[in-house]
Amino acid sequence: MLPQTADVRERMIVALDFATMEEVKQCLSVLHGRIRYVKVGMELSYAQGPSIVNYLKDQGLKVFLDLKIHDIPNTAKGAMRSLAKLGMDMVNVHAAGGLAMMEAAREGLEQGTVAGAPRPLLIGVTMLTSTSKRTMNEELLISGEVEDTVLHYAKLTKQAGLDGIVASPLEVPFIKKELGDSFITVTPGIRPLGADQGDQTRITTPEQAFRLGSDYLVIGRAITAANDPVAAWERIVEAVEEDRANQA
Ligand code: C5P
Repeated sequence: MLPQTADVRERMIVALDFATMEEVKQCLSVLHGRIRYVKVGMELSYAQGPSIVNYLKDQGLKVFLDLKIHDIPNTAKGAMRSLAKLGMDMVNVHAAGGLAMMEAAREGLEQGTVAGAPRPLLIGVTMLTSTSKRTMNEELLISGEVEDTVLHYAKLTKQAGLDGIVASPLEVPFIKKELGDSFITVTPGIRPLGADQGDQTRITTPEQAFRLGSDYLVIGRAITAANDPVAAWERIVEAVEEDRANQA
């Protein structure tokens, strides 16, 4: 687990789920000076090209490139080798791609990282936070509880030498217990009290997520689609800091 004393702003990753640069620039200007870490997903990356990472790094932001690579090992390796040159801080693969694919992705990332630069964190997506038990059992044909699949994928991710996983905050306590505090947990499915659940199913509030031990929270629409994104951001920071003070 990352230090409790760490500034929570460094641990809250804002999902830039937009297609246009106008929307990105508008969001960054509104939240300027507040946000430190952003996430580029498929929508933005496919619309603007991978150089969007350079643009965001030039703005002084840390970048999580959320492309959820899932392919044969050789292709995953090549993809990571190419992506590494962008210099993002974090990138991910689907753990469902299996051990060999994750190992190949890690090797590709290591090979592609510019000499002297730190290798970006490599994270395995366990089970999407939009996936319910019913979807997992009846559509994906994976029997049992979501938690069992998440833990199995998390173990596989660690075995492949990755740095951590993406999961629901609800799953963090047992992942940390089984795999250790230093195994990083990145958690979407964050909904402040009263926020619209949308398509997410395994959700918590931001303060619950940190209390459960999440290292990084991924927060999208609760901030970016709010009428007042600054107020939404500040409310979350205040709720988290208040909760931490109450626990100290
Ligand atoms: O708007 P919202 O807070 O639901 O956005 C969550 C973000 O986290 C989205 O960009 C989504 O792609 C991403 N994500 C997720 N579940 C995962 C991995 C990533 O929701 N398991």
